[in-house]
Amino acid sequence: MNILDGKKISNDIKDEITEAVAQMKTNGEKTPHLAAVIVGEDGASLTYVGSKVRACARVGFESTLVQLPADITEADLLAKIQELNADDEIDGFIVQLPLPSHIDTQKVLLAVDPKKDVDGFHPENFGKLALDMETFIPATPYGIMELLRRYDINTSGKHTVVIGRSHIVGRPISILMSRKGQPGDSTVTLTHSRTKDLASFTKNADIVISALGVPNFLTADMVKEGAVIIDVGITRVPDNTTTKGYVITGDVDFEAVREKASYITPVPGGVGPMTIAMLLQNTLLARQRSVQ
Ligand code: GUN
Repeated sequence: MNILDGKKISNDIKDEITEAVAQMKTNGEKTPHLAAVIVGEDGASLTYVGSKVRACARVGFESTLVQLPADITEADLLAKIQELNADDEIDGFIVQLPLPSHIDTQKVLLAVDPKKDVDGFHPENFGKLALDMETFIPATPYGIMELLRRYDINTSGKHTVVIGRSHIVGRPISILMSRKGQPGDSTVTLTHSRTKDLASFTKNADIVISALGVPNFLTADMVKEGAVIIDVGITRVPDNTTTKGYVITGDVDFEAVREKASYITPVPGGVGPMTIAMLLQNTLLARQRSVQ
């Protein structure tokens, strides 16, 4: 069993970005600038956004955190997005999800200028992803592809089973793994909550990508000997023995599944840090594309 070390690979990527930014500074060019919009006080969302802003400082990017109250009106949020679209200083921005229920998420994502949509959530960018066109690949699926690429895992002709059909992970990774190229060229099955006998699919999978959010869902009896296991789950499970009062738990029963897997991502330290690295990569791309 080999660990797919997302912490190490994400640090390698951040080092590469740091170097690119230093070169931009030497050339007297503008530094990439990411803005993150967060609505409300959700603890997990605040943690994620905080990590994204800290990561900007680590690579030499400018960053702006836009914190808005949970009761902001949809119109005021849309106005803020238009402001960010028009601000030449900002190269890319994200709106942290989920949004409060009184706000129409689709309307908000449609309002983001596709050229600044470093999350890759705008339908124009998502459509381009499906059509193999230049776009912003959503950070988590992009991170999974980059892990597979940097560990040189052969995906061609393999059976990849994706668990979960979310717009952020399951749906896009299923498209990416079926596209031409390496990683890619996989035969993909996208499973979800209505799939009958889900284990019958995972047992035959060469690669399992689980993005469900159910702790320890994927057990050893559900995977084939030698399979590659990618765990996207990051659920906070209450635990009074820790200072935070919770532990981050993946979808995979790690200790048992690692005995059968050829490669496996840990939680934490697998896909999570890759997501942040690829958001930075997309922001660098946004900056570079804006001067082309
Ligand atoms: N919420 C969970 N994952 C993400 C993400 O990748 N981007 C944004 N904006 N919100 C999220």
